[in-house]
Formats: sequence, C-alpha cells, structure tokens
Amino acid sequence: NKGKYDHYMQKEIHEQPDSLTTTMRGRLIRGDSRKMKTVLLGGLKDHLKTIRRSRRIVFIGCGTSYNAALASRPILEELSGIPVSMEIASDLWDRQGPIYREDTAVFVSQSGETADTLLALDYARENGALCVGITNTVGSSIARKTHCGVHINAGAEIGVASTKAYTSQIVVMVMLALAIGSDTISSQKKREDIIDGLLDLPYKVKEVLKLDDEMKDLAQLLIDEQSLLVFGRGYNYATALEGALKVKEVSLMHSEGILAGEMKHGPLALVDENLPIVVIATRDACFSKQQSVIQQLHARKGRLIVMCSKGDAASVSSSGSCRVIEVPQVEDCLQPVINIVPLQLLAYHLTVLRGHNVDQPRNLAKSVTTQ
Ligand code: UD1
Ligand code: BG6
Repeated sequence: NKGKYDHYMQKEIHEQPDSLTTTMRGRLIRGDSRKMKTVLLGGLKDHLKTIRRSRRIVFIGCGTSYNAALASRPILEELSGIPVSMEIASDLWDRQGPIYREDTAVFVSQSGETADTLLALDYARENGALCVGITNTVGSSIARKTHCGVHINAGAEIGVASTKAYTSQIVVMVMLALAIGSDTISSQKKREDIIDGLLDLPYKVKEVLKLDDEMKDLAQLLIDEQSLLVFGRGYNYATALEGALKVKEVSLMHSEGILAGEMKHGPLALVDENLPIVVIATRDACFSKQQSVIQQLHARKGRLIVMCSKGDAASVSSSGSCRVIEVPQVEDCLQPVINIVPLQLLAYHLTVLRGHNVDQPRNLAKSVTTQ
C-alpha cells in the first residue's frame, strides 16, 4: 500500500524518520546504576566477548548493503580498535579470499537471500569464522545460517532500489560499533554523544526531507545530462558510492561515486564546464580537504553542486559559483544517514522526470537469488 505516495521508492524515502525509530526501539537504554546510556543488541549480547577478541572484522555484502557497511567502517574501527576489511560477496568467493577462525564475518543483506552473500556465508562458516547477520528479513536464509545477528526492523521494502534499509543498516552497524567498544573508558564521551545523536536522528532526517522540492528543481536541471559524478571521502565516501548507485539504477543516467582523495589520479581529466559534479563537503575531519577539492574543481571550471552543513554555503562557494545543498549537521559517523537523503530524492525525481520505472528499474530484481 503506497498510501498518499505515487511510488514505493518515494514512500520508503519519506518513511525514514519512522523506520529509523523502529530500528532503534528498545536498543538504546540507560545503563544499570549509573545514568550512562548504552546499547543493547539482544541478538549479539552473548557473542560480544568473542567479537571483541577477533583479529579482524570482515564486512561482506552486495550493492547498497555493501555501501552501508562501508559507511559504518570508520566508526567501527575507531570504537573497536579492530581492523575492519570490506568484501563484495562475489569477489570474496571468486578469489577464495582468506577467512580465518579468528575472524568475525558480518553479512549485510536487506533480503537475507542474495545468492552471492549466501555463498560467501557458507564459505566463511566452513573456514570457522564467527558469522554475524545484519538483515531486514526475519526467517531469511542469512538470518538462519548466521551464528547470531541483528534484525534491522526497517519494515518491508518494496522498491527495488534500497533506501530505508540503507539508513537502518547504517544505524544498526553504528550500534554494533557502540556495543563492541562499550568496555573502553577513553571513548565513553564519544559513545554518549553518538547515542544522543542517534536519538535525535529521526528529527534530523525529517528536516532534511524538506529538501524534496529543491531536489526536484535540481533534477529538472539535470534531466538531459549524460552523466553525474559524486565526490566524497571519509565517512561520506560510501555516500558518494550509494548516491551514484541510486542515480544510475533508477534514473538510468550514468553516475559514478568517486573517492575525492583519488581525484588527481584520473577523474580530474573528466572535469569541464558541462559535466555536473556533486561534492559532499559537510563538516567533519575531512572538511578542509574537501574545501581544497572544491577550489581545484572550480579552477577547472567544474559545474559543481556542493552538499554542505547548514551555514556553510558562503564558505564552500567562495572560490566560484556553485549550487548548494545545505543539510543539518549531526555526529560525524551519523552524517551519512542525513547526506544520502537528498541524493535519494534526486534519483527519485530524475527517474520520474525522465519517464522511467521507479520501483522496478529495467533488468533489475529486488533480490538476486542466482549467481
Ligand atoms: C528480539 C525479538 C523481538 C523482541 C525482542 C524483545 C525476534 C525476531 N526478535 O529482538 O521481536 O521484541 O527480542 O527483547 O523474535 N539473528 C541471527 N542472524 C541474523 C539476525 C538475527 O542469527 O541475521 C538472531 C539473533 O542473534 C537473535 C535473533 O535472531 O538470536 C533475533 O534477533 P533480533 O530480532 O535482532 O533480536 P532482538 O532485537 O533481541
Ligand atoms: C539487489 C537490489 O541488487 O541486491 C539492491 O536491487 C540490493 O537494492 C542488492 O542492494 C543486495 O541485496 P540484499 O538483499 O542482499 O541487501
């Protein structure tokens, strides 16, 4: 049931304040005697010690689920101190990459039925790793075959392009990072700030959804373009990949997410006054580096659309004219949840304006159960 919306993708984008609330329900609690706030992930509580002792955490997934894991990697490394590696499920299998008994392998899948992810799961189990699932589907193959896990509880997702599952996956993986790191005194303040940020996040998502009309206007401007680049780094490298994936899979416009740190190693050759480029430059430890990227793109007459934190419009456009998307600022590790929303809206409006099927893009399936 699409309710007041024209398409499931549109409904699912706008549902995110609610789906995120459901994802967090019952999982952010006040600790016992002290007033400290903590995270409780029921499905993991008996396994946290083993996870903390592992030599490495390996994230495994496909498509949007892989991107969600990539968005969560920095905070997991920061709070756990454990090296985190990333595997696209098919590539791990193709290489028969090394997986050890001392590894925690985390399988991220909305449907819980993706063939490549399942194959990688069987492989990791055979190699003796602790297998953790993060899925939206209770009773799915991945939920059943993993040793333990967390349901993201985002509610059924119908649109082939994943939107609300992406943001709920990130929130669950941030909670995973909080749970694994919860025995470290030095990061206690940071953890409490993140928990406060999580509790506030649905309100911030509601705020960023108000950019809907602005994103429709931007889509109108871009309607006839051949290509769109999206530059991000740090916490928002994943946002660049996921924003570009949304645009290409539904609007059928070529789009590429680029790690801004790699700009001079190839992508800069594409820059001219015609190719539209989204640069994600919200406030975090990478902000000054992104400001310098903006200056260098301006120097090459790049056609820029800059996503920045509220109040930063003047500073990001000081080196040349550009369109600006201002978003609310949140804790750095939660910023990817906010920043993807305008790009989801842009992909949606571009698709409708270009006259393509939003909920079932050509050649794609919601759940890819064959290799
Ligand atoms: C569980 C209940 C929830 C109830 C809550 C009350 C279920 C599905 N969830 O939620 O309805 O409100 O207790 O305390 O009954 N698991 C995997 N692999 C996965 C995902 C999950 O093995 O990919 C396992 C978990 O380890 C856990 C179980 O499935 O044993 C349920 O996981 P989850 O729903 O996340 O647990 P709770 O949040 O505690
Ligand atoms: C398909 C879907 O390609 O599978 C994507 O269309 C999804 O939206 C990908 O990201 C992985 O699916 P899952 O269910 O394993 O998260």
